[in-house]
Amino acid sequence: MEFTDLIRSRYSVRAYRPDPVPDDLLMRVLEAGRLAPTAANRQPFRFIVIHTAGRQEDLRRLYHREWFGQAPLIIGICAVPGEAWVRRDGVNYAFVDAAIAMDHIVLAAADASLGTCWVAAFDPAVARQLLGLPDGVEPVAFTPLGYAADTPRPKERRPLADLVRYERW
Ligand SMILES: Cc1cc2nc3c(=O)[nH]c(=O)nc-3n(C[C@H](O)[C@H](O)[C@H](O)COP(=O)(O)O)c2cc1C
Repeated sequence: MEFTDLIRSRYSVRAYRPDPVPDDLLMRVLEAGRLAPTAANRQPFRFIVIHTAGRQEDLRRLYHREWFGQAPLIIGICAVPGEAWVRRDGVNYAFVDAAIAMDHIVLAAADASLGTCWVAAFDPAVARQLLGLPDGVEPVAFTPLGYAADTPRPKERRPLADLVRYERW
């Protein structure tokens, strides 16, 4: 899909069909995450692919929305701050890098006619337990990956004039 059409048509899908996601599409989406730019090319994250079949109770504990476990797959992204580039004032860019990779995943999914929805409001303690995360690994976001069973809403965004400054704040 042409890029402008892609970013206009992508939306947060909050109802999914149970149809399986072909492996080649899953790999295409993960590859898009792998190719994302990262600060100093550190790639300080891991993607965790979760098959939702039989996991509904766990997934409800992770994020209590009926649509969260509807798609056949969920992709989680975890940051590894110890691998990340750190700015001279101490700011660690692991979450920034993870967010860019997740955005690549979301856009690649839309390009493959797959729905996604960023989820940051999950329970981090449950994520740690379900995914077996060791110390030093931080869950950043999850998204279902599957075929949409809802329809896009009109995009609500601030006007560009509210968001852009020229030369200074
Ligand atoms: C970092 C981030 C976290 C988000 N967390 C959630 C979430 O926990 N639950 C949810 O339903 N949507 C979540 N969203 C989706 C936003 O609500 C959505 O992107 C926004 O309202 C714009 O709508 P659109 O994606 O359909 O264009 C999140 C989006 C981002 C970028």
